[in-house]
Amino acid sequence: MLVIIKEDYDKLSAEAAKIVADRLRKKPNLVLGLATGSTPLGLYKELIRLHQNEGLDFSKVTTFNLDEYVGLAPTHDQSYHYFMKTNFFEHVNLAKRFVHLPDGMTKDVNAFCQWYEERISEFGGIDLQILGIGQNGHIAFNEPGSSLGSRTRIKTLTKNTRQANARFFEQNEEVPKYAITMGVGTIMDAKELLLVANGEGKADAIKGACEGPISAMAPASIIQMHRNAIVVTDKSAGAKLQGSYVDSWENVVFD
Ligand code: GLP
Repeated sequence: MLVIIKEDYDKLSAEAAKIVADRLRKKPNLVLGLATGSTPLGLYKELIRLHQNEGLDFSKVTTFNLDEYVGLAPTHDQSYHYFMKTNFFEHVNLAKRFVHLPDGMTKDVNAFCQWYEERISEFGGIDLQILGIGQNGHIAFNEPGSSLGSRTRIKTLTKNTRQANARFFEQNEEVPKYAITMGVGTIMDAKELLLVANGEGKADAIKGACEGPISAMAPASIIQMHRNAIVVTDKSAGAKLQGSYVDSWENVVFD
């Protein structure tokens, strides 16, 4: 695993964007896994800047988002459809037909989840999966206790996650209880992982993900088993790490 610790949020966002842009320039029809949450916002902003100022081309890119709340329509301002549309999709030249998010309004969750998995396979699998991390060590909506081999399915959100998300809703009761999420196994099938984390609130989760025991109680810890995982943090989120890390990926030679 390659761990990169940057000075601050802007630098971590720029570093992560550089990695995505590099992969995209090498493979214009990249299959890109996308994440929501506040952390990747800076990364998306930088990708938009690279698109607008340097012609970074998304026209052949296929995207698959990690997760979506059950019961929120794509037009709901807290849905992940809406988040992706306003923060990324409408600012770059992605082709609509290549954009995929879990359907939180589906009437047949199991059939939808199976279709999502098949659709990812149809495109040859995800080349690069962007990830955030929850304070409790979740990735996507794979909460502690999730099977490390799980596939796309419906999950009940923990109290901790619902509390963390409550700030986005007017009433606590409005915070969704369920989500459709790629499984830990689905995420691990991506050819490369890029996990971003920011702020001291994520320091324990990052410590657990990078150096803790691999456990279903800390789903992000499974990335230690991935052959091409990159973790980019700011100083605060990386503060508890004891292992080796670098300050830039550019000088790192992978074998
Ligand atoms: C949600 C998302 C995750 C994300 C996490 C952290 O739970 N499902 O994919 O990683 O939030 O979000 P933030 O980056 O806002 O801390």
